Amino acid sequence: MKGIILAGGSGTRLYPMTYAGNKHLMPLFNKPMIYYSLSVLMLSKIKEVLIISTPEALPAYEKLFGNGDQLGINISYAGQAEPKGLAEAFIIGEEFIGDDSVCLILGDNIVYGSGLTGILEKSYENIENNGGAIVFGQYVNDPHRYGVLEFDKNKKVTKVIEKPENPPSNYAVIGLYYYDNDVINISKSIKPSGRGELEITDVNNVYLDKNKLDVELFPRGIAWFDAGTHESFLDASNYIHAIEKRMSLMVGCIEEIAYKNKWISKKQLLKLAKPLLKTEYGKYLERISNE
Ligand code: DAU
Repeated sequence: MKGIILAGGSGTRLYPMTYAGNKHLMPLFNKPMIYYSLSVLMLSKIKEVLIISTPEALPAYEKLFGNGDQLGINISYAGQAEPKGLAEAFIIGEEFIGDDSVCLILGDNIVYGSGLTGILEKSYENIENNGGAIVFGQYVNDPHRYGVLEFDKNKKVTKVIEKPENPPSNYAVIGLYYYDNDVINISKSIKPSGRGELEITDVNNVYLDKNKLDVELFPRGIAWFDAGTHESFLDASNYIHAIEKRMSLMVGCIEEIAYKNKWISKKQLLKLAKPLLKTEYGKYLERISNE
């Protein structure tokens, strides 16, 4: 399975923060926002990652991650000239995906909590073995901002609706999606929506109509943030700060995940820690190398 992080767009909902810089490079507490989405792919045990961003922002991502070698993974890059929709990721990434299945995560989504790694690993296995698609629903108090799940009286999902004025439920579809290889052709077959975007929600409805969409509702122990507005950005930062301070562990620490996945050695981890030793981040890497 391949992994794609979508980190383009214009970040208009974060203006003026994002006038001069790409949203996903902004820090959420102590690390760039994109670390959190990359960490979710790495927890899924995905080692081949494509980062899609604006052509102007790509050099900064290349500076940040290089080819991914230092994390024991492979990172490549592709430009999206204009934000033409989430499903364009599979058209831009067609060659990268090849004959494989794919997991897409939005670069402004943060997912963290108890049991997450198991859910991610299971989703990977399910798609590899059975094909189809898997999406996740989370109960939220502002569903109109998201793709929303509609259920029948037997709690079966009947439709996904993008940003409905009158949401049929409080279950938002989070920005983490697992697909078989059909997603490339499905993305090519859908038409742009009223707002001119190739909507991921339309892709999901195609899978749903074919009875191939598995919708999993996140348990209460998992927190999900979309850091796309000023307030949600601050909420996500505060959450990460609170967890890290109280528990003395890091959220979205890609070096730690690489080490615990045995993709890098202790020596490599300490090399990554060295330039960071004036920070709690560097000291944390040093600490876990001794555990
Ligand atoms: O966060 C989950 C939601 O993400 C889902 O519930 C919705 O169904 C889905 O459409 C999406 O809604 P958003 O309104 O949050 O999408 P947004 O336009 O903010 O884009 C999400 C991320 O993807 C953001 O980090 C920017 C990036 N992006 C977006 C578009 C449209 C791209 O890189 N390229 C694009 O063309």
